[in-house]
This record gives sequence, structure tokens and C-alpha cells, in this order.
Amino acid sequence: VTRLSPDLDRAAAAVRDAESPLGSRRGLFEVPEGIVYLDGNSLGPLPRSAPDRLDEVLRGEWGTGLIASWNTADWINLGRRVGARIAPLIGAAPGDVHVGDSTSVTLFKTMVAACRLRPDRRVIVVEPSTFPTDGYVAAGVARLLGLDLRWCDPADPAAALDDDVALVSLTHVDFRSGAMFAMADVTAAAHEVGALAQWDLCHSTGAVPVDLTGADADLAVGCTYKYLNGGPGSPAFAWVAPRHQAALDQPVTGWMGHARPFDMELEYAPTDGVGRLASGTPPVLALSVLDAALDGFDGISMETLRQASLSLTDYFIDLVDARLGTVLEVITPRDHARRGSQVSLRHEHAYGVVQALIERGVVGDFRSPDVARFGFAPLFVTHTDVYDAVEHLVAVMAGGEYARPGYAVRNAVT
Ligand SMILES: Cc1ncc(COP(=O)(O)O)c(C=O)c1O
Repeated sequence: VTRLSPDLDRAAAAVRDAESPLGSRRGLFEVPEGIVYLDGNSLGPLPRSAPDRLDEVLRGEWGTGLIASWNTADWINLGRRVGARIAPLIGAAPGDVHVGDSTSVTLFKTMVAACRLRPDRRVIVVEPSTFPTDGYVAAGVARLLGLDLRWCDPADPAAALDDDVALVSLTHVDFRSGAMFAMADVTAAAHEVGALAQWDLCHSTGAVPVDLTGADADLAVGCTYKYLNGGPGSPAFAWVAPRHQAALDQPVTGWMGHARPFDMELEYAPTDGVGRLASGTPPVLALSVLDAALDGFDGISMETLRQASLSLTDYFIDLVDARLGTVLEVITPRDHARRGSQVSLRHEHAYGVVQALIERGVVGDFRSPDVARFGFAPLFVTHTDVYDAVEHLVAVMAGGEYARPGYAVRNAVT
């Protein structure tokens, strides 16, 4: 049995939690008793305020106000209002964030629009370890527009850039490893060859400070069901740098992106600003839940959240090193500047490891081929959670629980 140094034991974890400026926020979320939830990087937990808010929208606004609620409850501007609340989390101005479709559909629209901003160029650059949808959509856009897809080395994306490149689209924090790109540096390299840089912020928003304006980025997209806790399938957002908005030409030119939708004109005329990314009727129920979820970020800076997140991931890595260093490989960068808010462990039986942990009440997830992922959403995860999770992980590994025959067949969602 490894003797833990006193600064890593459970009492030390409790002291760190007591000192955390985020301690009271945990109560904003519904995390079932006995569960250590380390999957907020995949699906955030239910914010306690969401059911009442949804009930109010369902019974009060829809049930009582009926169609008038588009005006009286301002449903028509709900996407804009929610976008303005996401903006400070990503270094954007309040009017520059659009919310409405899935991440994949949003990526399609912004990628086409970005390539149309560089009509004389033929290449879209993505990286092979990106989240699959980003690569699939980029390939679809390339086929549609008659462009080529070029894979870059994630260790050196700039090496793939030349003056044929219209757009480089990267995931800021890697979904599998938790590694983070230097956004400003890669963006500068793209601009040096005249290309645009787009960032997928799914694993960044609400977990690490993002400064799209400071990095001089061109476009960004991100989901809202992970660290923003917007609920399963909550709509994604898009950001477009103000300098590109007037020329932005997206492919799904629906009436909600029109300058005057209720004039019912024959010709499409896009509205000013990022609102032109809208296509159809906004998902009011989902947006309302997301709006309630964003209350969790009120009055707290991303820097404070980042400090808490790094403290949690450092602690998890230190415990794994001390107790399981010979059994599990930490594949997430140890360098703070290159780490998001998750820690990934590699093991041949990673799926079984995750399933055995779930049976013990510690929820992480598995990503093919051999990665066990643990997310440390600083709004509700504590250091004692981390301690308890590693305690269970030690038992799972020592008892070989990961090799149970039931884990030979994977669930549809892993
Ligand atoms: C980086 C990244 N992009 C996109 C998505 C998913 O896209 P969608 O919201 O369309 O399902 C995910 C989901 O986990 C993701 O991690």
C-alpha cells in the first residue's frame, strides 16, 4: 500500500474545498447522492433552477400566452439574449454570438461562410485527432464547394499552412486527450498566410478562459450541453469576428436570418451581424433551459474557474501518479498552458475501467480506442470527489474489476 503524503490525503482535500471560492455553487446543481460526477465535460448536470424555469415557459408562456409569447415573452430575441450571456465567457462582445442549431450544423454554416470569404483559395485544414463531426463536416463542405481537405499535424498545425488555405478549423481542447492549442499563436500563423482560423470551443467554454478577441480569431463554434450545463441537445453557439460579419454568406438562408422576416419578402436579404446565421424558428424550450443554466456563471470570473479547474486536475494527476503510476498512463499534458479541464488515462481495458467505476458511483466516460476520460467541471466537482474517485479507481485496478465479462460488449453511448 502506497503511503500518501499528507498534502494529498482526504483531509487535505477537504481543506482545499473549504477554501474554494466556488464551494457554495455546487448546490446549484442536482448531482444524485453518492455519485461522483466526472462527466460534465460530456453532459453537464441538471441546474436546480431549470425545472422551474421550464415550467414557467411551458405553462406560463406557452400555455397561457400562446403565440403572443413570441412578443410578450420576447421568445423572438431569446437566442440573442442567451448569446450575450455566453459572450463574456469566450472573450466576445455581447452582440456577436448567435445560438440556435447543433454544433455540427453550426460548423457547416460557418465553414461554408468562411470559405466564401476566401473564394480564391482551395484548401480547408483540420487535424486528424479532431472530434469526428468536425472532420466529417469539413469533408462535406469541401465536397460541396469543390475544395480539398488537408490534415495537419496537431503538434505543428502551422506546417500545413500555405497560400492555398482558406480556413484552418481546430478544436481548441482535444476531446480525447484534453490537450489545448495555443489559440493566439495558431491564429497568427493562419493570418500570416492569409487564411482564416476557426475554433471549436466545445471543450473550452465554461471551463477554460477563452479570449477570441484577444487571439484575433475569425470564427468560433461551441456546444452548450457540456460545461455550460444546458441539457441534452441544447443548442450550440457561433461567433464571428465583427470584421467578417457584413460579408458573411452562410448556406442555409432561412427566414429567421432575414433582415425583415415578417415582411415576407420574395428575396432573401440577410440581417446585419451574426443574426444572419439563423435559419429557422429558434428552439425556445431548449434555449430557456440554457438561459437558466447560465445563472451558474453569474458573478464569477473565468480566471477563478480556471484556478479551481487546474487545482482539481493537478490533484487528480498527482493522486494517479502516486497510486497508479505504473498501471495507468496520463495522456493529458501536465503543462497548464496546454491542458483543458479534463484528464485522460490510457489503458488497454479503458472501457471496462470506466464501467466498473460507474458501478461504484464514479461517472466518467470512454473514448475509443483506449481512453478513460474524467472531466473536472469546477462549478460542482470538489477535491474530495477527486480523492474518492481515485480511491475507487485503485480498487477497480487492484481487483481487476475492469475485466468483468459483461464489459466485453459496449453500450451504444460510451
Ligand atoms: C469538439 C466537439 N465538436 C462537436 C461535438 C458535437 O457536435 P453536436 O453538438 O453537433 O453533436 C462534440 C461533442 O462532444 C465535440 O466534442
